[in-house]
Amino acid sequence: MKIFIDTADINEIREIKELGILDGVTTNPSLVKKTGRPWKEAVSEILKECAGLPVSVEVVATDTEGMVREARELAKLGDNAVIKIPCTEAGIRAVRTLSAEGIKTNVTLVFSPLQALLAAKVGATYVSPFIGRIDDIGYDGMMVIEEVVNLYEVYGVETEIIAASIRHVDHVRRCAELGVDIATIPYKVIKQMFRHPLTDVGLERFLRDAEEAGIKI
Ligand code: E4P
Repeated sequence: MKIFIDTADINEIREIKELGILDGVTTNPSLVKKTGRPWKEAVSEILKECAGLPVSVEVVATDTEGMVREARELAKLGDNAVIKIPCTEAGIRAVRTLSAEGIKTNVTLVFSPLQALLAAKVGATYVSPFIGRIDDIGYDGMMVIEEVVNLYEVYGVETEIIAASIRHVDHVRRCAELGVDIATIPYKVIKQMFRHPLTDVGLERFLRDAEEAGIKI
């Protein structure tokens, strides 16, 4: 499973990239707002820092024409720009046009397998079903991921699935078990993936024994 980081914070991106585990980045207007930086400056820096890795940047227009215009502008910011388009009728129409132009897209705000099917039909590069926001309203977000994975498998769909709105490590584990293509994970959750109390206890014991045995390398 590929690991994307779900943030617009350049320091978080740099740190995770340096670990050698980063396959891409997803941003959205709320994440850019959190940085307190002008959006173009923030987004351009991420695209440059992550040259060669896909970076999703979201449009803000809601009509097809506006989305296509914004997408073309955003695509000029870097070869690695992937344009995030909301899963609305206008959005699906925009993705059809952008696919024909060879502009990579990520259909976002997907909450059902049928929305994911529509995104695939117009040639979306990626589709982003949200997990946490479904859990938040009392349903099972992971169920939607499973349904999208199954549906795409049945039809041999090439659109890659990005599991989004991930809130904790168990979401990541279950995505990996389902064979999801990509999980876009917040910085804090990526850091938690490294941790296990038995690793800490085990390391402490090995180091104590090494000292007692006089092991020096
Ligand atoms: C990423 O593509 C999504 O915009 C993001 O994962 C949404 O996460 P949230 O539901 O925690 O805001």
